[in-house]
Amino acid sequence: MDVFRIEGPVRLSGTVTVNGSKNASLPIMAAAVLAPGKSVLKGAPRLSDISVFSQLLTDIGCKVAREANGNISIDSTAIGKPVGEYDIVRKMRAGICILGPLLARCGKAQVSMPGGCAIGYRPVDIHLRGLRELGAEINLENGYIVADAARGLQGNEIFLGGPFGSTVLGTANVMMAATLAKGTTVIESAACEPEVADLANCLNKMGAKITGIGSPRLVIEGVKQLRPFEYQVIPDRIEAGTFMVAAAITKGCLHINNCRLQDLMAVVDKLRHIGVTVEAEKSGPLRREASEAGCIVTCSGRVRSTDITTQPYPGFPTDLQAQFMALLALADGNSIIIEKIFPDRFMHVAELSRMAADLRKEGSAVIVSGVDKLIAAPVMASDLRASAALVLAGLAAQGTTIINRVYHIDRGYEKIEERLNPVGAKITRESA
Ligand code: EPZ
Repeated sequence: MDVFRIEGPVRLSGTVTVNGSKNASLPIMAAAVLAPGKSVLKGAPRLSDISVFSQLLTDIGCKVAREANGNISIDSTAIGKPVGEYDIVRKMRAGICILGPLLARCGKAQVSMPGGCAIGYRPVDIHLRGLRELGAEINLENGYIVADAARGLQGNEIFLGGPFGSTVLGTANVMMAATLAKGTTVIESAACEPEVADLANCLNKMGAKITGIGSPRLVIEGVKQLRPFEYQVIPDRIEAGTFMVAAAITKGCLHINNCRLQDLMAVVDKLRHIGVTVEAEKSGPLRREASEAGCIVTCSGRVRSTDITTQPYPGFPTDLQAQFMALLALADGNSIIIEKIFPDRFMHVAELSRMAADLRKEGSAVIVSGVDKLIAAPVMASDLRASAALVLAGLAAQGTTIINRVYHIDRGYEKIEERLNPVGAKITRESA
């Protein structure tokens, strides 16, 4: 039960490097189940969610290891038990995306329904609808999804849209299952997130036949078998976005390495709109590969207010909503933030208000009236991105902020204090 002690206000200045994407790594790790043999994932961050997913794979029979060079090897030669246990899936909802690969590989699977979540109601009905349309028989027993496709899966035309638009892990689950189905599958209203595209690129490297990658219409021609992958995951755009806000909220200047601006256009557009400078850093002679490209984020004064509505990609990401609320709490003027993906994703509102932010919640919108300063206070982390917002607020607040339940942050940011302290933050991790 570590806590963070954060001294503020500070001004960040220097270079930070973005890690590989958590939300791309998790479904790619699941994809290893599709091909018997040893797959290797490069660049996966050292996060508790990655460890829990490794546990899930080990539990079904895979041999998973973090190599000395940081790569994760997953040997899926023997899948002894196609079961995603409650004790693991309840810790991490992404465990659900083992369902499609197990069904395609083993013709059957049992995966625990993911439980409740701090960011709101998160059903998996669309996942199940998609897999049923591939011919799977699916029942719920004792809190488990019991899926059967003894005669194999059959390609089909599937509409995967839901009440809030596309589903990221739902698309991943159905797309992975369809790679080994008989015939062709068309997924309409597929999620277009860069993490879904990264998974599709990895599957094609394994021998799958997927076209329309990055668009809402995916076409998957089923194949008889796939081969293990060796794959480098994309940079984490949400971590990159969080660092951009860190530069802005501290009126600082950060060089952010390993950041793909093309994955963050909606975010960069908002930052520039409120007066923050975001410049692409050319991949000069010093920079060997595009992946080493980055950007420079500079903010010299008080940001302007703006309105934000979260949307499926390429719209403004819900996973940066809380961080921007912390930033706009210090803006000159009133902003309105509307959460269209997870309407109840506002656990950070009460905690930021404890730091003297002026916030008024109206349904799935928050009116943010900019204040001159935030004031440090003891606050409680509740979920991954809400906690990141509290760290950012602590960097700008007057005094010492104490953040409890830091384990929420460790789920998505690898040792964030060791990344931010070298560029001017004063964050101490203490065990409570
Ligand atoms: C992924 O979750 C991410 N998680 C989330 O990031 C992210 O917030 C979310 O996509 C949206 O971008 C991972 O990739 C591991 P969805 P996912 O299915 O796939 C509704 C983080 O902070 N829905 O795209 O679970 C759902 O309730 C995490 O890193 C259904 O109604 O999200 C939501 O309102 C948090 N039925 C909307 O769709 C379904 O069967 C979008 O959810 C599935 C989803």
